Amino acid sequence: MSQTSTTDHRLGFKSLDEETAVDSLPVTGQLPGWLSGALVRVTPARLEVGGRRLDHWFDGIAMLNRFGIADGRVSYRSRFLDSVAYRDSQEGEWRHGGFATDPCRSLFKRVQSMFSPDPTDNPNVNMARIGERYIAMTETPMPVAFDPETLATAGHLEYADKLKAHVTTAHPHHDTERNELVNYHAYFSRVSKYVLYGLPAESSTRRVIAELPVKEPSYMHSFGMSERYLILAEYPLRVNPLKLAFSGKPFIQNYTWRPSEPAVFQVIDRATGRLRGSYETDAFFCFHHVNAYERDGGRELVIDLVAYDDPAIIDALYLGPEEPRGPIPATELRRYVIDLESGAVSSETLASDLELPRIDYGRRNTKPYRYLYASRSADAWFDQLVKIDVSDGSETVWSAPGCHPGEPIFVREPGTDDEDAGVVLSVVLDAAAGKSSLVVLDARSFEELARAEAPHHIPFGFHGQFLRG
Ligand SMILES: [Fe+2]
Repeated sequence: MSQTSTTDHRLGFKSLDEETAVDSLPVTGQLPGWLSGALVRVTPARLEVGGRRLDHWFDGIAMLNRFGIADGRVSYRSRFLDSVAYRDSQEGEWRHGGFATDPCRSLFKRVQSMFSPDPTDNPNVNMARIGERYIAMTETPMPVAFDPETLATAGHLEYADKLKAHVTTAHPHHDTERNELVNYHAYFSRVSKYVLYGLPAESSTRRVIAELPVKEPSYMHSFGMSERYLILAEYPLRVNPLKLAFSGKPFIQNYTWRPSEPAVFQVIDRATGRLRGSYETDAFFCFHHVNAYERDGGRELVIDLVAYDDPAIIDALYLGPEEPRGPIPATELRRYVIDLESGAVSSETLASDLELPRIDYGRRNTKPYRYLYASRSADAWFDQLVKIDVSDGSETVWSAPGCHPGEPIFVREPGTDDEDAGVVLSVVLDAAAGKSSLVVLDARSFEELARAEAPHHIPFGFHGQFLRG
């Protein structure tokens, strides 16, 4: 581990081995009286295993962080998820592979792990609530359940069905009418397939919505959902599953970028499971869909996402001794519009240089919307939060000296109608202080209302959710 004392963003890539519980953090400013609940995030907190720096940021060992908010006070708790990957790391071992970190093991074991249930279970990307169950997730289909108050691990989520899968996303959607979590997974075989499914709140049996055969699956970190459709955006970053089994390379290095091939939107009818159509456009890459909705009487499908020209971002996030090796490529908030009758695909750029996008998901997902919140790297690693008005591209920016904010999470003020009535929560590293804080912004003005300082730095993470109290 690096012994350098860091007073800039690099502190966010320094491991945190400490598990903490604090009843009341020091708070500056004024928290809204209506704000009650907990912000729970998963963070790749341990970036060295057995004295060796992990190869890639996406492989850090998962820790849960919880900021509890009630009566104007903020508590804080952190705890590692007790996954197999975590237990291995306690022994200094990296046995199960991951996204891009090589486990250095025999070919035989690799083949075994690809086609038998032995992938990593390190759930460091996101969390979700399904009914009364809370799960932490990564891109292998082994979510880990936990207690949202104590953060104690409750074991792997067990499915009652026999569906087999190799990769999935940590960005499920919520079907509020059916009260189910919607996701897709890919099953690798001689005849590989994408399977879109719903997991009901009260059941452990997944409901298959659709199956799509695919010769060479694309790497897809998230997907879109409109009122009528599920949308898989297949980027031409594809894998030959049979070669994957025998390659001896870490997972993502088996995918090949083919910029001369198109990106393909696979649009699936949610009610019937039928493929509405496959729509091609020029190659691009993306981690995060933002929103999708139909317009013009259902003739057009609008898909907003954060687009990269190519997958160089994956290479940029391999870890050096103190931070990812970079450089971080530019992004566009891009709007694709598919004319479902003619098959034509057009696109326009709504904004630039943002990542970790969030909207008022509960009310605006699958529908026209106006506001998006995101993190931006302007002069350094994630040094701004931005609010984008997608109706005209105008922006409001929040920043503070030496502060590096993570994903901004919108929380609606109960009983209000305006789309931006509420707050935006973000865990912000104050590099000079050497500590991270929960920062609360007024979502309308984008001004800081309050911050609650944790007792130490929290390594940069990906995603989290606000659980209402
Ligand atoms: Fe993500």
